[in-house]
Amino acid sequence: MAKASTVEAPAETATDTLEVQDSRTERSFNISITDGAIRASDLKQIRTDDEDDPGLLSYDPAFLNTAACRSAITYIDGDKGILRYRGYPIEQLAEGSTFLEVAWLLRHGELPNQGQYDQFVHDITYHTYVHENMRKFLEGFRYDAHPMAMLNSSVAALATFYPTSRNIFDERERTISIIRLLAKVPTIAAFCYCHVKGLPFIYPDNDLSYVENFLSMVARMSEPKYEANPAFVRALEVLFILHADHEQNCSTSAVRAVGSSHVDPFSAMSAGIAALFGPLHGGANEQVLRMIAEIENVKNIPQFIEGVKAGKGKLMGFGHRVYKSYDPRAKIVKALADEVFEVVGVDKDLEIALELERIALSDEYFISRKLYPNVDFYTGLIYRSMAFPMEFFTVLFAIARTAGWLAQWEEMLLDKEQKIARPRQIYTGPEERPYKSRIDHRHTAGPRTQKDALRQ
Ligand code: CMC
Repeated sequence: MAKASTVEAPAETATDTLEVQDSRTERSFNISITDGAIRASDLKQIRTDDEDDPGLLSYDPAFLNTAACRSAITYIDGDKGILRYRGYPIEQLAEGSTFLEVAWLLRHGELPNQGQYDQFVHDITYHTYVHENMRKFLEGFRYDAHPMAMLNSSVAALATFYPTSRNIFDERERTISIIRLLAKVPTIAAFCYCHVKGLPFIYPDNDLSYVENFLSMVARMSEPKYEANPAFVRALEVLFILHADHEQNCSTSAVRAVGSSHVDPFSAMSAGIAALFGPLHGGANEQVLRMIAEIENVKNIPQFIEGVKAGKGKLMGFGHRVYKSYDPRAKIVKALADEVFEVVGVDKDLEIALELERIALSDEYFISRKLYPNVDFYTGLIYRSMAFPMEFFTVLFAIARTAGWLAQWEEMLLDKEQKIARPRQIYTGPEERPYKSRIDHRHTAGPRTQKDALRQ
């Protein structure tokens, strides 16, 4: 069995130091610099003479300038617009690899050889079915449930079917959990789609590739065999590769933080899905199309942009914490959109999207803040032209990100330096004060009336 890759231990031979002088005490400190970083815990030694002083903290809301781990999985240079998985440029992977090859690469650090790949594809294919109770679980959701909320709770529910997955330090358990998640997330995602649409659940077809099988579970009706449009298969394969990992983003940090409590991987991953759901993260692809629908017409764009600049909302699909130039994934997605539109015709909103991009990229507000289109700006248009409903876009993101979340989760577990994630805080609340109740403890809320019940 191929081993999961681990992070290199930090070099203990740092020669660079940061000299700091504390103006409160006039004392000086030499703090080691390794890999361009100081250890925040080294700041603890900087303290005043007050015996209650716990030492200096670093304060970094939203982790703007804090590395929380060492990772060998994904490299991003935000200024140059570079993205690499395990050293391989994203453009080359998108061009030549398959999603499952990338999923293997992310976990193991090297591309699979033929034997490893064939075995991996076999294992994934073998595990695509879900327990029939999962089907009943999904049927319990309302007809208008958001598929991301359904996916999130379903992945958490998978933990109940695989209790031994809690043995996270057993490599075989980790391997089978990772295979199960990669195999079953598309099935659950497709079931969520069918539930919302009121369509029969279509079971996996193990003769098909990963992407074809997913499309079959979403689109097959009465025909015995589903034949996917090759342009859609190619587009989805590339989109899955582009979304597979993105180093320490919000959802990956959630998976790592929750996983650091040593919970099972299904529970840790459901935390990632919850984080991805948010409109500032993966949910942005859905919001881009909602925004375009609101703009309605190219002639309304200047007014919309003025509104954004006046703080009346954001230009969804623009901006990124790390990329301060064009997101390399967005470039690939834009070209891919052309390929898909050639087959199905141009999306009616493409004109608005292109004009939005043109105006934003020439406007001082966006230029000075280095706001460029991100991966979510054009993906929604492709997904819609493939007939996916808006609510489903982020689910597609989640299927792909499963590979990255799990690789990052395992890397965190095997990293000897990692402990349970537990940030510090700067307390800003009241000083100690005596308890004096403001309510009458003898008072009860009284019986519930029918009106109360109706209000729920
Ligand atoms: N539209 C208008 N102004 C923006 C936007 C935007 N999309 N993004 C950032 N700004 C402004 C922001 O108001 C701030 O202006 P000022 O300096 O005057 O206060 C400045 O640019 C810096 O922004 P920030 O909020 O400090 O940036 P951040 O790194 O905290 O946020 C972001 C990154 C992605 C959350 C943000 O750019 C955003 O909300 N974009 C829209 C949502 C979106 O497309 N998200 C998908 C991200 S890519 C896919 C993924 O990995 O999830």
